[in-house]
Amino acid sequence: MKNNKQSIRHNNENNEYPKFSFNPLRIGIHAVSLFPLFELAYQAYAKQLTVNPIQYVEQFLGRAALNLLILALAVTPLITLTGWKKIGRHRRALGLYAFFYFALHFITFAVVDYGFDVREIFRLTTQKPFIIVGSLAGLLLLMLAITSFKFWMKLLGKKWKNLHKTVYLVGVLVILHYVWAVKGSISTLSGDTLRPIIMGSIVFILLLMRIPLIKRWIISLRGKKWFTKRLSRLLRFLPLG
Ligand code: HEM
Repeated sequence: MKNNKQSIRHNNENNEYPKFSFNPLRIGIHAVSLFPLFELAYQAYAKQLTVNPIQYVEQFLGRAALNLLILALAVTPLITLTGWKKIGRHRRALGLYAFFYFALHFITFAVVDYGFDVREIFRLTTQKPFIIVGSLAGLLLLMLAITSFKFWMKLLGKKWKNLHKTVYLVGVLVILHYVWAVKGSISTLSGDTLRPIIMGSIVFILLLMRIPLIKRWIISLRGKKWFTKRLSRLLRFLPLG
């Protein structure tokens, strides 16, 4: 009994939930993260994958990877805004889901679209700027996913945190990849450029909120009544667990 209590306390000190505990927030995170997969499966079942299903699936999975990456990037700013540290436990899951959707995005590109024609894939990867940038982001995501396990945390010690700051660069690279991939022009705001601009602005704000000076200013606002009142009204709808 004593050992049990000790192990639960130990888990909590490491910012983790005891294994197999019922936690609505954790369930919510998995549900939100898996939703795009079920949505895509439903669209395939309902034959809604348009006349160019490969391209549709490739783009859908790319956007899903980006959305999950943005959610992972939003965790720290959310803690800064609210002081709600428990959400920090779910950052890794969101990051791994981003990697999962990227892996499916890449498989659709390399295997389904190009039949694993290594020469052609290599030609595209080295010639098309948006694929070069995407590949760099993908490689960094792979490195972050591999080193997200406790083994690497222990092995790398303080360096681990710095290494995982690479995720900011991944955010910027993926936005560049997105801007370049869509048809249209950012300079004339023509074509399908609105979504990349919105996503880019979100990533920009999330990165801005990490700058120590801005972070301190936001934390100082937490003491102000008007701020907490508005924020709590906004967050009333979140499943705080
Ligand atoms: C090896 C790395 C990668 C390759 C080869 C690759 C390939 C592609 C290709 C070919 C497209 C254009 C699809 C089309 O319009 O026909 C695309 C678009 C896209 N990719 Fe990637 N990608 C890579 C990495 C990534 C990563 C790491 C992310 C996000 C985490 C990502 C997110 C996106 C997004 C959001 C789009 C635009 C989807 C749209 O048009 O709505 N890609 N990618």
